[in-house]
Amino acid sequence: MAYVHVEQAVKSFPREDGTDMLVLGGVSFDAKERGITCLLGPSGCGKSTLLNVIARLERLDQGYVEIVSNHGESGTRLPQLGYVFQDPRLLNWKRVEENLIFALRGMDVPRRQWDERIHTYLGLVGLLEFRKQYPLYLSGGMRQRVGLARALVIEPDILLMDEPFSKLDQLTARKLREDTLEICARLQQTALLVTHDVEEAAYMGDRIVIFSARPAHIVEVLDNPFSPLERDLDDVRFIQFKKQLLQTVLNLVKEKEEA
Ligand SMILES: Nc1ncnc2c1ncn2[C@@H]1O[C@H](COP(=O)(O)OP(=O)(O)OP(=O)(O)O)[C@@H](O)[C@H]1O
Ligand SMILES: [Mg+2]
Repeated sequence: MAYVHVEQAVKSFPREDGTDMLVLGGVSFDAKERGITCLLGPSGCGKSTLLNVIARLERLDQGYVEIVSNHGESGTRLPQLGYVFQDPRLLNWKRVEENLIFALRGMDVPRRQWDERIHTYLGLVGLLEFRKQYPLYLSGGMRQRVGLARALVIEPDILLMDEPFSKLDQLTARKLREDTLEICARLQQTALLVTHDVEEAAYMGDRIVIFSARPAHIVEVLDNPFSPLERDLDDVRFIQFKKQLLQTVLNLVKEKEEA
């Protein structure tokens, strides 16, 4: 179990002319425990920046991120994070299983557990029979699945995903969304998923956090009325929910333009 709380996150980046560009203008929200929280916002608003802050790859200027997990010995170790990127970022000269071992080694998982872990997580993404293959012999969708298995194999407290389906063709993306949703539900994984796609947020998010344009602040937080396994893309009620979410986002944009 893990819990993420972001409080008044403020972050600027220096521009070339020496001035600062405010990216996160005081962002606060709670992620959903044991579920997927979608960070939905327009391009360039700072979603990846926030994910990188949560992953401890960037620092905030003000505010803080609190991650509490009840794993680990006496609560002393840092919460562990798995990261799935837009591109799978695999080591192409290493076999699929060696890519997972690289992550396990990095997290000091004892060697005796490696085989079982690889079996479990490559199995979950449906790629067990490709464990000896090199990534470049796999399709784009399969490589993205390896990226997901590599993030999950360390059994992270939080799974971070930054637009992981956006470079895939429509049908591959649809299948991978469905499988990722099912895997996260089965593992009761606390996850954050960045997207600028309203339909994706409606389908993937147990909680949907809507960001404004830059400088980002949170304009709305919604909990999905449909449980993961009830989200049927062809169901009339679910289509209605997607439409409502799109309308909410459009209204928020309009309000902003008129302000
Ligand atoms: N390391 C950096 N140095 C300077 N500027 C940066 C840096 N990282 C991000 N930015 C700027 O901060 C802004 C927000 O970037 P970010 O990548 O977080 O947006 P995003 O919401 O993820 O966008 P997208 O949906 O296009 O991925 C952008 O204008 C970007 O150019
Ligand atoms: Mg981004």
